[in-house]
Parts: sequence; structure tokens; C-alpha cells
Amino acid sequence: MAQLEGIETDLWPSEVAVMDVAPRDGLQNEPHIMPTAEKIHLIETLAEAGVTRIQATSFVSAKAVPQLADAAEVATGIKRLPGVRYFALVPNEKGYDRAVASGVEDITLVLSATETMNRNNINMSIAKSMGLAKRLFRRAKDDGLNVRADVAVAFVCAFEGTVDRQTVVDQVDELFALGADQVCLADTTGRADPRHVAKLFALVRKKHGSERLAGHFHDTLGMGLANTVAAMQQGIAFFDTAIGGLGGCPFTPGATGNVSTEDVVSMLNQMGVTTTIDLDRLCEATDLVEELSGSKLPSAYYRSVRSGNKRSIGGG
Ligand code: COA
Ligand code: ZN
Repeated sequence: MAQLEGIETDLWPSEVAVMDVAPRDGLQNEPHIMPTAEKIHLIETLAEAGVTRIQATSFVSAKAVPQLADAAEVATGIKRLPGVRYFALVPNEKGYDRAVASGVEDITLVLSATETMNRNNINMSIAKSMGLAKRLFRRAKDDGLNVRADVAVAFVCAFEGTVDRQTVVDQVDELFALGADQVCLADTTGRADPRHVAKLFALVRKKHGSERLAGHFHDTLGMGLANTVAAMQQGIAFFDTAIGGLGGCPFTPGATGNVSTEDVVSMLNQMGVTTTIDLDRLCEATDLVEELSGSKLPSAYYRSVRSGNKRSIGGG
């Protein structure tokens, strides 16, 4: 069995769920505020391209993130396709209340692995976030909703540097004990490397299995795909990506976009790993996003096909 420093590395999933987070992670960082109707159009276009998990918005303070002040209008305005799940991020109880009032069924509570980032991002201590998780996860069970916890800066924090692995493992333990349906380890800064990713996912996977874990990688240093592969080798089969490679966190200095949905799906296609996404239709959606954002999007696959290269190369 292939190993990396005592960790098995061939637990490849045959199928992967890809959640496009551009309507939230992407748009929160765009200087231009996209009109509500265009956001709705983007979400509906993603769903039509076969994206069955979409992070539609976040119910945060409009002062903190003016780009997403219209969360309720977006969540209530989208025409929902059967089989598609629309996630929303919440930082606190008020966000939860607003999301539920807008009919959101997949709630994501965000907290951070480091105190400095948690305060910078959502102005509370980690202990307070965990207290909140306890209350919200219980409410979600009563409300019949699915809850995910996103651990931001699970690898490298812009303020505190490399994050101690055991600290993250303890947080994941606590979040599952409190009732999270899924926990996502986020490389918010885009500074994780594949060895770090493999080791951390191996530790949590050994305790909790891979089915309830997800990975969220930014491509700041060009390691988004490599980190995705490292997590897949630990059996992880749920990834957050953004169309065109949009994204970034306004509360983390220096972070750039998420690994692009096109690059991840094209890699998975070539590797023979199944997704629900139609890459040609996705690229048509990218045309739309590029037009709306007014700047060239970084996705390598998208740039390549739009400069005339053949779309599919075939797996080996
Ligand atoms: N949605 C909308 N408004 C909210 C809110 C929410 N979830 N939570 C708080 N507010 C409002 C309050 O009503 C209050 O409004 P007022 O000034 O008109 O009375 C104001 O925001 C301040 O409330 P307070 O509870 O003191 O919040 P805060 O100033 O400590 O900010 C957060 C905390 C979490 C609301 C804010 O930091 C935030 O929205 N962060 C989101 C960060 C983010 O999206 N990061 C990227 C994702 S990883
Ligand atoms: Zn992110």
C-alpha cells in the first residue's frame, strides 16, 4: 500500500461532490457588487451545468460584507432545481435566523482555527463560536436542517502562521460531538501544501471517516489542485471550488481565489472520477461570470479551452 510517512495514500474516491462557492466566496471579494438578478442568474446557470452543491450566499453583516447584503433576496429569488442543494454561510445566531427565514436548508457555520482570525473574521473567541455551534446545531436538528462547520485557516493563518494540527483535530472532534453533519477544513489563505493536507486529513479521517469531511482550497500559491489530490488520497470526496477561480477572503490578507471548478472537474474527468458537472456548459457559465466581473478569470482549464485547445484529453 502506498504510504506517506506512515499514512496510506490510495484511498481514492470514485465519485466526488464539487460545491461551487463562487456566489459566496467569489463575490464577497469582488470590488464590484454584482446586482441581485445577476447573482440569481449565476446560481441558476451553475445548477443547469450540473453543479448540485452551490454555496449561494452568506447571511453576514452588510457592514462587514456589503457585496452580500442581498442574501435574503438571493436565497428566496432562485428557482430551485430538484436534486440541487443550496448552502448558505452564517457567522452567528442572527445569520442562522435570517437563513432559515429565507428557506435555506443547508447551513454552514464558519469559525476559525486561530483566535486572531476568528476575531478578525467574526469578532468572537473560538470558545464563543463553539458555544454558538452547540446551540445552532441543536436548533438545526429540531428544524430538520443540515449543518456543516467550516474551519477557516485550518492549515496556515495569515496572522498566526502554521496552525498546530492537534488544535484542528480537537476542533473537528468537538464540532462532530456537537452534531455537525459535515466538517470542512479550509485553506483560507491558500498556503497549505499537499503534505500538510495529507497529514491533517489522515488524522481526522482515522477518527471520523472520510464521508463527513470536505476540503476547501484557495490557489494563492498554485497548490489548489495538488492539495485536492492529497485530500482525495485520504478518501475525501467533497470539495469547494469556484467557477473561474474567483474568490478570496477580505479578512485574510494576501489570499486569492479558490481553486477553480473547471480545473478540478477537468482533472477529475481525466482521472476517471465521476462528478455531476458538464464541463462545456460550465465554461459557458464562466463566459457569463467573466463578462459580469469585467476581468480575466484565472482558471487554467477555462483559459486553455477559450484559447482554442481541445477540451478533453482522456485519462491514462
Ligand atoms: N446578518 C446581518 N446583520 C448582522 C448579523 C448577521 N448575521 N450579525 C450582526 N449583524 C448586525 C447587527 O444587527 C448590528 O447592526 P446595527 O449596527 O445596525 O445594530 C451590527 O451587525 C453589529 O452587530 P454585532 O453583533 O455587534 O456584530 P459585530 O460587529 O461583532 O460583527 C459579525 C460580527 C459576525 C456580524 C461580522 O463580523 C460579520 O458579518 N462577519 C462576516 C465575515 C465574513 O463573511 N467572512 C468571510 C467568510 S469566511
Ligand atoms: Zn474560502
